[in-house]
Amino acid sequence: MNVLVVGNGGREHALVWKIYQSERVEKIYVAPGNDGMTDLAERVDIAASDIMTLANWAQKHKIDLTVVGPEKPLVKGIVNEFEKRGLKIFGPNKLAARVEGSKVFAKNTLKKHKIPTAEFEVFTEPEQAMEFLKVADYPLVIKAEGLAYGKGVVIATGKDKAEDAIKKIMEDKVFGDAGNRIVIENFLEGREVSVMVFTDGKNFVPLEFAQDHKAVFDGDEGPNTGGMGAYSPLPFIDNDLREKIHNEILKPALDAFNQEGLNYKGLLYINIILTDMGPEVLDFNARFGDPETQVVLPRMNNDIIELFERTIEQKLDGIKISWDQRSAVCVILTSAGYPLTFDTGQEILGLEKINRFDNLLVFHAGTTKIGDKFYTAGGRVLGLTVLGSDLDDSISQVYDYIKEVDYEDMHYRTDIGLSEPRL
Ligand code: GLY
Repeated sequence: MNVLVVGNGGREHALVWKIYQSERVEKIYVAPGNDGMTDLAERVDIAASDIMTLANWAQKHKIDLTVVGPEKPLVKGIVNEFEKRGLKIFGPNKLAARVEGSKVFAKNTLKKHKIPTAEFEVFTEPEQAMEFLKVADYPLVIKAEGLAYGKGVVIATGKDKAEDAIKKIMEDKVFGDAGNRIVIENFLEGREVSVMVFTDGKNFVPLEFAQDHKAVFDGDEGPNTGGMGAYSPLPFIDNDLREKIHNEILKPALDAFNQEGLNYKGLLYINIILTDMGPEVLDFNARFGDPETQVVLPRMNNDIIELFERTIEQKLDGIKISWDQRSAVCVILTSAGYPLTFDTGQEILGLEKINRFDNLLVFHAGTTKIGDKFYTAGGRVLGLTVLGSDLDDSISQVYDYIKEVDYEDMHYRTDIGLSEPRL
């Protein structure tokens, strides 16, 4: 079969890599992709959010299955457009993708169905939000309602920072219409974990837990990014906690989606915080996590095409996921200055050498190839994933491999997976 992957980052490279392993796949296209994927897939020069052009192209090229990476085309309704034309596509429809596209919708759904989440208020007028700040307890969390690429969430330790966030989001409109409404919620303390779940609307199959490290600097300092590294499995998740999350979060959330008539078919990625009171939902995402995908898929033994198809056909019932017992750690190499301003166009040295290591996967995010050389072309540049015998072994190996890579302004966190408790 011919498969089209939509998107261009490290997550999409990991998806392409996994799809390539299926014996049923003849050819993979990626729109728009990046130059680091071209040994596995042919690039198609169409932007990920240009839904009509993608649908026309998929129709013309007889694509058997399309897999959507990023949230924007999902929220814009790419699945509805493809399905209308009889094209098979993996991902939630426009209504279902609102669980990520509208934080107000997500929070109201959680509240209505009594699924644990932080208490919150919604504001449409900045003046009312500012009034609320006068009587609020701090820290609190301010979230732009719509899509803001991981930058629309501010943890305000005091009133000044909260006022500044409201001004930027609602008055200066730094995220455009995504900031028309905001959610202000209580700050919850605890460890954050990510869980991704295949669901066909009737059945659901959770993947292994992963943990992302969002802050740009070691020790969780500095602004949040799309993700600076991840690892899986998580040594502090035991069977009791797994069951609790299943019973108190996953099942109620998917039941709630059904009762709301969302017909959610695709991948749901839930950010969960483990508080002293139990697990609570931070937010929903209508897609695979990045970089979580770069550690979870390398550990999954199943043919991912079967999972995509059974999700679409609502036949996930009875499917078992088999896991490589090794530990995966991914460290993201970025351009210094990311997630704010950064330079690109730096030559990347050492790729030929690291591409030869058996237990290392190199996922490209922001790279471009000129002649036979790769150059930086984005904030997140490369994801290096190692499969080692245990977490400590993977950490030690991935940082050894990173020593072989070099470019001007290279930045990465040196503590991925290190600050976490071991059971
Ligand atoms: N890991 C953060 C995200 O995918 O949004």
